[in-house]
Amino acid sequence: MTSPTPHMTPDEFRQRGREMVELVARYWESLESLPINPAATGAIGAGDVARAFPAHAPESPGGTHDWDRLLADITEKVMPGLTHWQSPHFYGYFPCNASFPAMLAELLAAGLGQQGMLWSTSPACTELETRVLDWMGQLLDLPPAMRSTGTGGGVIHTTASEATLTAMVAARDRARRALRAANDPRAAAPHFTLYTSTQAHSSVIKAAMVAGLADSPEDRTHLRLVDVDSNQRLDPAHLARLINDDLNAGRVPFFVSATMGTTGTTAIDPLDQVAQGCSLSSGRSPDPNNPTSPIPWLHCDAAHAGACLICPEHRWMARGLSAFDSFCFNPHKWLLTNFDCDLFYVADRRALIDAMSITPEYLRNAASDAGKVFDYRDWQVPLGRRFRALKLWFVLRHYGAEGLRAHVREHIRLATLVETWIREDSRFELAAERTCNLVCFRLRAGDEPTRRLMDTLNAGGNLFLSHTALDTPEGKRFVIRMAIGATTTQERHVRQAWAWIREAADGL
Ligand SMILES: Cc1ncc(COP(=O)(O)O)c(C=O)c1O
Repeated sequence: MTSPTPHMTPDEFRQRGREMVELVARYWESLESLPINPAATGAIGAGDVARAFPAHAPESPGGTHDWDRLLADITEKVMPGLTHWQSPHFYGYFPCNASFPAMLAELLAAGLGQQGMLWSTSPACTELETRVLDWMGQLLDLPPAMRSTGTGGGVIHTTASEATLTAMVAARDRARRALRAANDPRAAAPHFTLYTSTQAHSSVIKAAMVAGLADSPEDRTHLRLVDVDSNQRLDPAHLARLINDDLNAGRVPFFVSATMGTTGTTAIDPLDQVAQGCSLSSGRSPDPNNPTSPIPWLHCDAAHAGACLICPEHRWMARGLSAFDSFCFNPHKWLLTNFDCDLFYVADRRALIDAMSITPEYLRNAASDAGKVFDYRDWQVPLGRRFRALKLWFVLRHYGAEGLRAHVREHIRLATLVETWIREDSRFELAAERTCNLVCFRLRAGDEPTRRLMDTLNAGGNLFLSHTALDTPEGKRFVIRMAIGATTTQERHVRQAWAWIREAADGL
């Protein structure tokens, strides 16, 4: 008896698979000429895409006969509603690099259909992940403790937001255990406090909300926002003062999130001074009146700029990282590995596993019970997990460390070029220190013309820019962000983009 479920046959899959690869290849060949953001150009309004699809799911199977119409729907209904993140002229947000080797690995991961929640549910999924994360730890020169051969190790999370939330939860658990172990009177009802700079990504505040440490983004019962200096870097002296004030009030500082490459301007927080501010460099408790007080967990959010560490000349950014408890960065931003792929490293895996592990009877197995294997479900919030290591492995095999360094270095060179052009045109000024591939600039004429310049360019569809607001001695100023990091962006694109920017400024 044949299956009542109308599956695609392997032969049909072969044929349709070739067509799909062709569709993707053609898309990439056409990217340069596509208007980048249909929302900004006005080509697409709210609800337009949804209205193109029926209100109800198909009842009868379309099967492979319907496949041609499905492909037509992709071209006619889906494509017009895409923002072309892979365009070489996408400069708006931090990039979201895709590459052909990573795409093929994604296909393979889907085809193999693994679910690697435990070592035993897919030893290859687990052990290849451990291996490539150790490779990346070496390539980025992360502290040896953050490797599986040390006391910690790395795991692939979906996003930096997930990593930061996980670090925060592990930090709270570690602090709670330390209070109890020390018979600290605060253990019964600890008032935990956490710290990050005013320039940190919103995911830190969101993590506090999810973890029950903030009722709203404005709630400061547990969360402290640390001032920044004129280069948007966390002020370690202010951090130390905030921690001291909380300790003096009997609260428990448990978590500090520093940023390597802030979203607004890619400012690099001084990790070594952050650690010093928490008294970690001397290995002492931050509370002189209470030597058993737990030391805050130090997390480094390097979601975007972490990619720079693959180049030795940028490793100054990580000075002080050896005092940190965790670090995360996204190869899915600027390192050619398709979304989603965040690498989350911890210096002490025990602290993470203690916080995240729960073993119902149905997940018990001999390998886990023997303690000889990593069960990555204990390193993350979800239980199930995809075979994401494949795409990172393919990227490393295809590009090699040299290829990845060339990618990062070229974009930084292009950002330096843009910076030079801005300096040479008296209508423009640089608005923030450039640390890697993000150039922040504005028109000297002021906020309103700067905003109009960006809106005009984005509405034209040739390129896509974004903005931020920066505190200056004259108050908050509107600043254009140009992040040069798309997979295929080359010098000719950046030259063309600058010509468009100048032309639009002429027309204001
Ligand atoms: C510094 C920083 N942290 C965190 C994030 C959030 O990244 P994700 O989408 O991986 O959660 C971003 C996004 O751009 C970021 O720039």
